[in-house]
Amino acid sequence: MNTQNGSTGRSVTRRDFVKATAAIVGAAGAVGIAPSVIARTAHAAGSDEIKVALIGCGGRGTGAAVDSLHASPRIRIWALSDVFQDRMDQAHAGLTNISESVPEECVKRVSVPKERMFLGFDAYKEAINSGVDMVILAQIPHFRAAHFEAAINAGKHVFMEKPVGVDPFQMRQVIAAGAIADQKKLGVVTGTQRRHEQCYLEAMKRIQDGAIGKVLNASVYWNQGGLWSHERRAEWSDLEYQMRNWLYYTWLSGDHIVEQHVHNIDVMNWVMGSVPTKVTGMGGRQVRTEPLFGHINDHFALQYEYPNGVVGQSFCRQIPGCVDRVEEVVTGTEGRMVTSSGRAEITGKSPWRFSGQQNSPYRQEHIDLIKSIEAGKPLNEAKQIAESTLTAIMGRMAAYTGQEVTWDFAMNKSKLKLGPERYEFGPSLAVDEVAMPGRTKLI
Ligand SMILES: NC(=O)c1ccc[n+]([C@@H]2O[C@H](COP(=O)([O-])OP(=O)(O)OC[C@H]3O[C@@H](n4cnc5c(N)ncnc54)[C@H](O)[C@@H]3O)[C@@H](O)[C@H]2O)c1
Repeated sequence: MNTQNGSTGRSVTRRDFVKATAAIVGAAGAVGIAPSVIARTAHAAGSDEIKVALIGCGGRGTGAAVDSLHASPRIRIWALSDVFQDRMDQAHAGLTNISESVPEECVKRVSVPKERMFLGFDAYKEAINSGVDMVILAQIPHFRAAHFEAAINAGKHVFMEKPVGVDPFQMRQVIAAGAIADQKKLGVVTGTQRRHEQCYLEAMKRIQDGAIGKVLNASVYWNQGGLWSHERRAEWSDLEYQMRNWLYYTWLSGDHIVEQHVHNIDVMNWVMGSVPTKVTGMGGRQVRTEPLFGHINDHFALQYEYPNGVVGQSFCRQIPGCVDRVEEVVTGTEGRMVTSSGRAEITGKSPWRFSGQQNSPYRQEHIDLIKSIEAGKPLNEAKQIAESTLTAIMGRMAAYTGQEVTWDFAMNKSKLKLGPERYEFGPSLAVDEVAMPGRTKLI
């Protein structure tokens, strides 16, 4: 993180630098990490700037880059990468035009000339190798696991959005790369921001301390209306059309149980302190049936079982005109906890309601990541988010096929690998069939 681009970032004393480096070298030596990797990691821990490449320059990617700029004065956005030039240009404009959410102080730390705007399916490699210390991965979920693996292999710290993939194959890839991140002492924080939200953290601590007694059940919900979609344009190939409307194709988004409801499913796993052993359930496509909505479902209802016999229920719906509900409800022998963004409440034996102050969890997750790297104890959430993503994926597999899906099958045996072998904006790309329980095979 040199200052060749004219930065006036905060200077770190040599003492700080040596302290952080010593911690990393000591730990790395114990697991046999190459000196070059230690040097890169120590650099992030000690010197002024943390250069960041944003890969996936959409709405959340741009937001995450802004959150990261706010999280630390050491952050400098150094490179962008996307498959669509217009998205990259929009992100560049959003990051370089002074606005209420992007004040001048942040804009000054965006240094992305045209030469560091990388376009195309392989461009993520150039962004990773453009001299950055950290990458923000906010591309379409299908591509996340491969990009994460490449970033970790290149020795970069990672902030990546949820979900971290769409099929079991990708979850194994994320877990394996996450283990390498541990060895290399790289920080990995994922966009399950509830894990960094004060009201959730306090509620979970109370549950662990017995505030609702023994947990009997968790019911988690993301029921809402529809989301955005784009009409087809004549100049778009099939692949471009699907990617512009990625929410509606399972190979790209994982379906909405994976893409959106993973937030609540992650809370369910957090409460249970475990992944589920199996799941059964159902889902379908009742209202959103036009081709504009690809082939995904518009509702799911699933029952998960956890090792101690405790049951978790998951409900998600994207149908306009119905009652909305986005929260988690945990019932114990002596009380009940209800959580949602910005709210946490316990009733029963030890009543409590969160009334403290909290930072934006979207910003807090970046603060926590950067602080952990600076302290030489990088957070690594790769396994945790891969497990929560797989929990959502196995729910989708159960609903699509009508079968019971065990954790062992999903994690160790499933051969499901979604998407084409190669990505090319060619003339045709068939839309997958709508899943039919009883007929769609469990693989
Ligand atoms: N944590 C949260 O609360 C939260 C909120 C919104 C979105 N998200 C997640 O963030 C991710 C992005 O969502 P979004 O709303 O920004 O979508 P978006 O469509 O606005 O952005 C996705 C971007 O990725 C780009 N992209 C697609 N494939 C790519 C590839 N192979 N390489 C590089 N770039 C590629 C697209 O062109 C687009 O610019 C999703 O995983 C979504 O689930 C998380």
